[in-house]
Amino acid sequence: MHTRTLGTTGPAVSALGLGAMGMSGAYGASDRAESIATVHAALEAGVTLLDTGDFYAMGHNELLLAEALRGRDRDSYQLSVKFGMLRGPGPEFGGHDCRPEAVKNFLAYSLTRLGTDHIDIYRPARLDPAVPIEETVGAIKELVEAGYVRHIGLSEVDAATVRRAHSVHPIADLQIEYSLISRAVEADVLPTLRELGIGLTAYGVLSRGLISGHWSAGHTAGPGDARGLSPRFSSENVEHNLALVEALRRVAGTKGCTVAQLAIAWVAAQGQDIVPLVGARTRERLAEALPAMELDLTADDLAEIEKAVPPGAARGDRYPSAFMSNLGVGN
Ligand SMILES: NC(=O)c1ccc[n+]([C@@H]2O[C@H](COP(=O)([O-])OP(=O)(O)OC[C@H]3O[C@@H](n4cnc5c(N)ncnc54)[C@H](OP(=O)(O)O)[C@@H]3O)[C@@H](O)[C@H]2O)c1
Repeated sequence: MHTRTLGTTGPAVSALGLGAMGMSGAYGASDRAESIATVHAALEAGVTLLDTGDFYAMGHNELLLAEALRGRDRDSYQLSVKFGMLRGPGPEFGGHDCRPEAVKNFLAYSLTRLGTDHIDIYRPARLDPAVPIEETVGAIKELVEAGYVRHIGLSEVDAATVRRAHSVHPIADLQIEYSLISRAVEADVLPTLRELGIGLTAYGVLSRGLISGHWSAGHTAGPGDARGLSPRFSSENVEHNLALVEALRRVAGTKGCTVAQLAIAWVAAQGQDIVPLVGARTRERLAEALPAMELDLTADDLAEIEKAVPPGAARGDRYPSAFMSNLGVGN
């Protein structure tokens, strides 16, 4: 596994990261033992960047990672943790809280659940509309100075917010959705990150499985699977979107790889400053994702891929409407 450095001030991390969200029910039921085995397999393959959020099943995901990482050398992996999203006792989300006192409170709980004395990259999951980003980043800066946090990241904010945050403390990376069917970052956000020397960790590179080659129109999301609420998976859009996947499958055939590998490799090929995160929750999916980082895409390959899936080709928003207003960029 190669490494990539997150921005000019961030850590060197594995060129592919593992996101653990799906191991705590975001995509329906998951298997705890298989999740832990997947984290172990990723570490053994050289994946060092592990992403979680304190609100992923209300701490469940952090506790799962703590169990998977028990006994490992703390310097052999990097934890990226998101905070600030409020939950209720049911499946509901209750807005955001990124006030300085809340940041410190969230961190105290995360450190305890993760069983560690520091977090490598700590980031607000979304902008709290009631709190200037300078105040949130200022609070994390104090946690950096106190040794509890190594680097500051951001998630799903626009270019202007990146600039404001970076003026308070150097930002290591922005985590944001980026895939063949979600390219809005390319307009303003990516050029701003490059100007400021900030890395990008790309999530949703498989669009939650939609462009993995494993989703079919007849497949329905089970209970608790967030894909059941996603406009791109809805009955009116899914067939159109899967036709794009079939076009991609033809290109994958010429490269001797799978659709998922092609989609991951395409994101990785957009720059050395970009680290794709994959949401594998089984060893089988992980084993498919890993070789994507060895796939060499030529300029002709990239052109073929983009001909198969031109920018803006997907139908449906990337989030349900209630969540779209708090994203840094559109689709
Ligand atoms: N900052 C943010 O706002 C934000 C938002 C969302 C996620 N994230 C982070 O990004 C991580 C990844 O995001 P994502 O879940 O959207 O990722 P993704 O990689 O686009 O989708 C993951 C899903 O795709 C399916 N899949 C099919 N083939 C696969 C393969 N070869 N490898 C991996 N997955 C495959 C799996 O579903 P099945 O297991 O059902 O086949 C898997 O759960 C999350 O775990 C989380 O840490 C961040």
